Amino acid sequence: MAWGGQPRPLLALWLLAALARSGSGEAGDGGWRRAGPGAAAVEEERCTVERRADLTYAEFMQHYAFLRPVILQGLTNNSRFRALCSRERLLASFGDNVIRLSTANTYSYQKVDLPFQEYVERLLHPQNPTSLGNDTLYFFGDNNFTEWASLFRHYSPPPFRLLGTTPAYSFGIAGAGSGVPFHWHGPGFSEVIYGRKRWFLYPPEKTPEFHPNKTTLAWLQDTYPALAPSARPLECTIRAGEVLYFPDRWWHATLNLDTSVFISTFLG
Ligand SMILES: *[C@@H]1O[C@H](CO)[C@@H](O)[C@H](O)[C@H]1NC(C)=O
Ligand SMILES: *[C@@H]1O[C@H](CO)[C@@H](O)[C@H](O)[C@H]1NC(C)=O
Ligand SMILES: *[C@@H]1O[C@H](CO)[C@@H](O)[C@H](O)[C@H]1NC(C)=O
Ligand SMILES: *[C@@H]1O[C@H](CO)[C@@H](O)[C@H](O)[C@H]1NC(C)=O
Repeated sequence: MAWGGQPRPLLALWLLAALARSGSGEAGDGGWRRAGPGAAAVEEERCTVERRADLTYAEFMQHYAFLRPVILQGLTNNSRFRALCSRERLLASFGDNVIRLSTANTYSYQKVDLPFQEYVERLLHPQNPTSLGNDTLYFFGDNNFTEWASLFRHYSPPPFRLLGTTPAYSFGIAGAGSGVPFHWHGPGFSEVIYGRKRWFLYPPEKTPEFHPNKTTLAWLQDTYPALAPSARPLECTIRAGEVLYFPDRWWHATLNLDTSVFISTFLG
């Protein structure tokens, strides 16, 4: 009765969904849902990380490699890799593969193994703003490059290298509103394949104020608004096709504004 008698609201919903899909940017959303967790997970008012198109390796080394973060545009073309990362393609190829999840806190303690399909269908939803990072499971890193080789051989990493380092990939998919709170490690790149990822960065000598088990979203709501202008981090939201470079030991926290697919190249 409900189905037969009221087609119009359903049709309207379908049209809205179709419009949302077609309006979601050049790269599309790959079938990954984009609805955010509400008003909290939004873009910054002003991006304070430099965006550079067609940066040469010499300029990268001179101005950024050891000094400051930068967002690189147009460096590689990963449209083929992106197509392989649609929800449908990844589920068809890797749905039964067991993946390893980490908790989304600064010092990730717990690891959980479960089939990729189960993660996508049960856990990949917008983050509840009140949940704790150490209670949230996050798919990033711990990838099995043997089982997923047919995907990763299509990824073109940023072509810049630092002497004495070896690149290593970490691939992930995470729900809107999720993210990893402040932490630091060696230098590297992070590329968004689908969705948007907001970054917060501090230089090594400027340790931010944060609780290691709270989410980036909680930090953004509770701590960020009271920061004096001089205490604010560098910040910017990157989108599909953009690559953020972070130098050695820079503090950083991330916040996925949409369901996001992303891959980092760590220079260890
Ligand atoms: C990227 O490569 C695809 C083919 O894989 C091509 O169709 C597309 O035009 C390229 N995009 C750019 C910006 O070069
Ligand atoms: C998560 O961290 C909070 C605060 O640090 C702590 O009270 C809680 O027991 C932790 N939860 C788990 C599952 O370890
Ligand atoms: C964070 O959570 C972990 C386990 O989830 C716990 O062992 C640790 O004590 C917590 N840290 C703080 C500062 O509460
Ligand atoms: C990766 O997958 C292969 C094939 O299933 C398996 O033999 C291997 O133990 C896995 N490696 C890791 C590090 O889990």
